[in-house]
Amino acid sequence: KNIVVLISGRGSNFKSVYEASVRENWAEKYGLYISGVISNRADAKGLEYAASVGIPSKVVDHKGYESRGAFEKDLADACDEFGADLIVLAGFMRVLTPYFVDRFSGRILNIHPALLPLFTGLHTHERALQAGVRVHGVTVHFVSAELDGGPIVGQATVPVLANDTPEILAARVLVQEHVLYPRAVRLVASGRVKLDGNKVLMDEEAS
Ligand code: GRF
Repeated sequence: KNIVVLISGRGSNFKSVYEASVRENWAEKYGLYISGVISNRADAKGLEYAASVGIPSKVVDHKGYESRGAFEKDLADACDEFGADLIVLAGFMRVLTPYFVDRFSGRILNIHPALLPLFTGLHTHERALQAGVRVHGVTVHFVSAELDGGPIVGQATVPVLANDTPEILAARVLVQEHVLYPRAVRLVASGRVKLDGNKVLMDEEAS
């Protein structure tokens, strides 16, 4: 099975998934491969990392398109060119329309830096601090047409501490992202966690 990772920037989550795939030998154990990385920005740092570890990559720059539809068609074609069985959004900063979501129905994962359904959208750490929550965290979910609204695969929590700034809190959450995402990707890609309609089904190891 082929995993295709979509990024827009730094790519630290992509790196954590890739490193887990090597460390845990996903290829031999589960027949899982990261077959390609796609970025909508040519200057994404994660592309340099992909090159450094020999993963093929492609840029599909949304700015070169007149419509979201045309962009998504090329993006989806690029995913198919990499033989995508599972699409992993890792800091991919474009909202996907039902066209794309339906074309890869039940086969797209996203990581969102908040405990969904709280704090959908941007600036989650700032908003968590403003709201005064004492627990914050990260969510991995299947992508549906509703922004940050698809069925939840897994979550991890962190405490909110006195003197936290959005940056300090983001760094604490990011440590958990790098633990949660590789595990969630492996469980979904290997079929131990799957989507059944709107419900996430998991086997014992996964739950
Ligand atoms: C992460 O915090 C992720 O949860 C959010 O965007 C950030 C991407 O970071 N969706 P990176 O590019 O994976 O380092």
